[in-house]
Amino acid sequence: MSDDIRNRARKDLITDADLASFSRGKSPSPARFTVYLAMIIIPIISGLYLGRYSGGFDSQQYWEKNEIAEQIAALGGGLADGSEESAEVLFDPVKEGMKIYQTICMACHQVNGQGLPGAFPPLAQSSWVEKNPAMLARIVLHGLYGPITVNDSEYNSVMAPLGAVLSDEQIALVLTYVRQEWGNAAAAVEADEVAQARSESSGRAAMWTVEELAPWDTD
Ligand code: HEC
Repeated sequence: MSDDIRNRARKDLITDADLASFSRGKSPSPARFTVYLAMIIIPIISGLYLGRYSGGFDSQQYWEKNEIAEQIAALGGGLADGSEESAEVLFDPVKEGMKIYQTICMACHQVNGQGLPGAFPPLAQSSWVEKNPAMLARIVLHGLYGPITVNDSEYNSVMAPLGAVLSDEQIALVLTYVRQEWGNAAAAVEADEVAQARSESSGRAAMWTVEELAPWDTD
């Protein structure tokens, strides 16, 4: 037997011994065991923690379609095929108006339309809000400045023009919302009325004053 062959045989022996000890089920070293254990336990604890402390935040929280499906379910119906057409039927003008209010108007007129004394007049129970939509549309389209009396309080401030930000439809929706919330009870405003106000005052760049709005200051 040459040295070469003997060496190879010894190597094979060592390898066999290793395999044998492995197959006898020798347990891994304690350090490695800890790592294995951590790999199993940490995800379980993380999962439990998230489940317990996620504060109800679920992955579909802001998924509008899901919200619509819930509304349909609440109304006792169901989406036959989940198509957009069926969801469209649920378009709720007051809710859409509320969204626009909360995005644009609420910053000044406040959460419940109560305004801010000395700075922003109220829309809730405001004598102005139930007046001619042609005047309200003009206020939103081109803004308003100077003295105004709302519910017996004087204001002398500035409301920025919003005609470039909001479409006729959006202005109609938000005005409808404002006219029907917080105890207000006036008729809905139509997009046509806003469109008419927009075209009639299309040449205008300045904000309105109360005096200038007099022609439309009707009930
Ligand atoms: C930047 C703040 C601001 C924003 C945003 C704003 N307003 Fe105003 N609004 C005012 C101020 C200030 C006045 C009073 C202006 C004055 O003193 O001449 C006013 C007046 C009004 C009035 C007439 C007075 C009243 O209280 O009834 C109406 C109606 C109105 N706003 C509706 C809206 C609507 C609807 C929106 C959202 C589309 C809106 N405003 C967004 C500040 C704002």
